[in-house]
Amino acid sequence: MTHAENTADATETAGWTEIAEPGPGEVRRVGQWAVGSSRGAPFAVSRRCRHQLRDLSDGHVDAEGCLVCPWHGARYDVGNGEMVEGPKGVAFYVGPTPGYTQLVRAVARWVPLRIGRAVRRGHSLFVR
Ligand code: FES
Repeated sequence: MTHAENTADATETAGWTEIAEPGPGEVRRVGQWAVGSSRGAPFAVSRRCRHQLRDLSDGHVDAEGCLVCPWHGARYDVGNGEMVEGPKGVAFYVGPTPGYTQLVRAVARWVPLRIGRAVRRGHSLFVR
């Protein structure tokens, strides 16, 4: 999916942006936010992975409700923005990186993702 395809068709009303609710596991880009649903609850978090800044709106939500980075697979708790599993890889290498994975996760504790607001109304989400 390209960036353009991933950009939500959005309508802005009084500071809130309305989008069609993403499907299961899908994440959409809404301005500064990566938006989706985790265990049935909508979320909005800042888009830049704390590892190497990949756009998290290109990622997905896994079966446990975590937001997964599309590059090296770092996983985030969208309730508090914390990285719960570090990256598996660095730069253009994707694979096991023992030690490094834990180090990145430890450092990322100091800079969790920012939390936005996402509210469901019918089949739409309102985000700000
Ligand atoms: S850029 Fe997100 S895990 Fe590496």
